[in-house]
Amino acid sequence: MWCALLIPPLSPTALFVRPLITDTRNPFLAEMTETAKQLCRPGYGILATDESIPTAGKRLETIGVDNTVATRTAFRELLYTTPGLEEYISGTIMFDETLYQRTAGGVRFVQLLKEKNILTGLKVDTGLQPLSAHSPKETATQGLDNLAARCDTYYAEGARFAKWRAVINVGRGPQGKSMPSEHALQENAHGLARFAAICQQHGLMPIVEPEVALGEGDYSISAAAAEQERFMAEVISALRQHGVYLEAMLLKPNMALPGLDALIPTKEEVAYYTARMLKRTVPPAVPGIHFLSGGMGAEEATLNLQALALEYPDAPWALSFSYGRALQDGVLKAWGGDADNVAAAQQLLLDLARVNSEAVRGVWDEHHPCAPIKGESGRLDGLAKYSYSEERKESGNIFNW
Ligand code: 13P
Repeated sequence: MWCALLIPPLSPTALFVRPLITDTRNPFLAEMTETAKQLCRPGYGILATDESIPTAGKRLETIGVDNTVATRTAFRELLYTTPGLEEYISGTIMFDETLYQRTAGGVRFVQLLKEKNILTGLKVDTGLQPLSAHSPKETATQGLDNLAARCDTYYAEGARFAKWRAVINVGRGPQGKSMPSEHALQENAHGLARFAAICQQHGLMPIVEPEVALGEGDYSISAAAAEQERFMAEVISALRQHGVYLEAMLLKPNMALPGLDALIPTKEEVAYYTARMLKRTVPPAVPGIHFLSGGMGAEEATLNLQALALEYPDAPWALSFSYGRALQDGVLKAWGGDADNVAAAQQLLLDLARVNSEAVRGVWDEHHPCAPIKGESGRLDGLAKYSYSEERKESGNIFNW
C-alpha cells in the first residue's frame, strides 16, 4: 500500500515512444533522413561545385585558363583539400565527371571528403530547355530519362544526395505576356517532384531547387516574392502528390530579389520578403533550406544570409547556404591557375566558409574577405539607392548551370 503511494503515476506522455520515420516501401528512408540531418548541422553549409563542363569553361575563361579535364580537376582538388573546410561545410555538390576524379596523390575526391565528414551529392538534372514555342523565355528542366539508373550508380559510387534545379523567370515574355505562366509553374513543380520521388526511391536524399531567377526589368522585390510564393506553393503541392517524404529532403531556393534594373533592396527587405514567403509555404517537416547565391555578390550573399538568420531566429527549418558562385568566384581569381597560389586561394575559401557559417548563426561581425573596395556609392551598406543592373547582369543568372 505505502509502496504504491511512493511511485508516481505514469503520465500518458511517458508511455509514448516516438516512432522512427520508417516505411517498408522505402529501405533508404532512415539513411536519407540522417543525411538531411547531417547536412543541416547548425552553422554548416553546402559548397556547390556542380558546374557542367561548359559552365566550368566559362568560369575558367574569366581567369584565362583553358577548360580541360586537368584544369577542372586541379581547381576542384584545391577546393576539396582546403584544410579545415570540414569545420563549416557539411556537403558538396558535384557534377558527374568529378565523382570519378582523384587528387594528384590518387585519392578519390568522394573518399577524401568522406574522411572529413563532408557528404557528396550529385547534380542529376541535365540542364534547361525552352518550355515551348509559345513561351521561349521560360524553361523546363531535363534529366528524368534514366534518372533511376543514374541514382543507383551514384549511390554505389558513394553519393548520398542529389539536386535538381528548376528555373522560373519573372517579367515579360513575347507579345508582352507576363511570366511566369501557369504552365511554367506546373511543369517545373512537376519536374522537381518527380526528381525527388525517384531519388528517394533509389537512396539519394533530394535537394529540391526551385529558383526564381534574377531577371531583366525593374519589378519590385515584393512582386518577385509574390511569384516565388506561387511557385513554392506549387512545388510543395507537387511533392505531396508524388509522395515525397518531406523529412528526407532539403530545399534550395533563391532569396527574394527584385529585377536587375530595380533599386537595390536593403538586407532587411531581402530577409523580410524571403522569410515571409517561406513561412507562408514550407511545412516545418522539411529539415532545411539552403539558399543558392543566384548572382548575389559574395559579400551581399553573406549579408543577406545573416539578416535572414536575425529576421527569423526561431525558424522551424535550418536556414543555411548552398552557394556556388559566392564561395567560388573569389577563390578562382585568387588561384588564377597557378600552383603557387593554391594556399592563398584555400585560405580565402576557408574564410568565406567561416563568415557564411557565422552569418547562419547570426554572429558575423560583417568583415568580409571579399569586400569590394567601396566607391562613393557604398553599395553594400544597403542604403544606396541606384540601379546595379550592369554588375548583376554580368554575374547574374545563366541559362544552364
Ligand atoms: P549559385 O547560384 O550559388 O552560384 O549556385 C547555383 C547552383 O544551383 C549550384 O548548385
